[in-house]
Amino acid sequence: MFLKNCWYALAWSHEVQGAGLLARKVIGQPLVAYRTEGGEAAVLIDRCSHRFAPLSLGRREGDTLRCMYHGLVFDTQGACVLEPGRKRPSPNMAIRSYPVVERYKLIWVWMGEPSLADPDLVPDCHWQDDPAWRSIPAYIHYKADYRLIMDNLLDFSHLSFVHENTLGGSLAIAETAPLIEQIDKTVRITRWYRNEPDLAPYLKGVAEIQGPIDRWNIYEWHMPGNVLNMDSGSAPAGTGAPEGHRVPEALQFHATQIVTPEDGKNSHFFWSYGHNFNLDDAVLTDRLAGRILEGFEEDKVMIEAQQLVIDQAPDDARMGYILVDAGLARGRRLLERLLAEEQQGLAVPAEH
Ligand code: FES
Ligand SMILES: [Fe+2]
Repeated sequence: MFLKNCWYALAWSHEVQGAGLLARKVIGQPLVAYRTEGGEAAVLIDRCSHRFAPLSLGRREGDTLRCMYHGLVFDTQGACVLEPGRKRPSPNMAIRSYPVVERYKLIWVWMGEPSLADPDLVPDCHWQDDPAWRSIPAYIHYKADYRLIMDNLLDFSHLSFVHENTLGGSLAIAETAPLIEQIDKTVRITRWYRNEPDLAPYLKGVAEIQGPIDRWNIYEWHMPGNVLNMDSGSAPAGTGAPEGHRVPEALQFHATQIVTPEDGKNSHFFWSYGHNFNLDDAVLTDRLAGRILEGFEEDKVMIEAQQLVIDQAPDDARMGYILVDAGLARGRRLLERLLAEEQQGLAVPAEH
């Protein structure tokens, strides 16, 4: 089950350019995204109302999209505006269009009731536009249920094991209990590891701090849209980072990670990992993104393998809960509650 009345990240802005068409599924529905001549993003169902040809094999013509099977033309609202050989198109050929907002270098789509699509509900990712941070927008496809990725991100104890030689590097991560808070539809997790002997492996050769460090991951998981924003970093130990004092030598990062369900067994993962120091150093941005990607590929291997095991498990097999699951349990409960509320309270239009 998926939340429908929320904004999902469909694509990075740069993935839809000029007259290009992007086919991407969200919560099981095939979508096609394109831009009008003026550059406005539009999203339609990727299924022609005639013989169900994918419109993503079509052609952008002005502000409209032509199905390249038998030539029907649709506007940004899904109305069929032209049928070859007829003065006026046949009735009832309209297709579904979806509310779209382009913000924070991302194209967001609303899969639920269109009248509820309030642009103010787009999750805050302003760091993408902030010149104080530099990052590279990136995408990974997962063959896994979005909730397994959510579980992973709500429990960083795995950094000590999955990412032993990359993002983690210290057993302290698994041994330290995080502070877990829930603020409305957001789970906030605060992790401090004080007086660690060394930087995480992924930072070696990227940046230097001599001597022991205080290290942190402070992040919020916004459930509608599955958006994580994280303040993380390392500072020379004892310089007051936990109290909010970040000395110039501190290495500070801002990560954005967004999980959009493709369907029940596949997910889109949009991410960026910004730094706010050495802003004119493109090599640093590049190298940092490469190191983070190494870590994320470790997650992908583990989570996709986990999905396969889940698929083969007998119906009565149940997962166990251990101490580190407090964050993911909180997330799962919140998701279940929001799903139930949506089911009970709000009408969601039938797919057509
Ligand atoms: S399938 Fe699109 S026009 Fe026939
Ligand atoms: Fe991970």
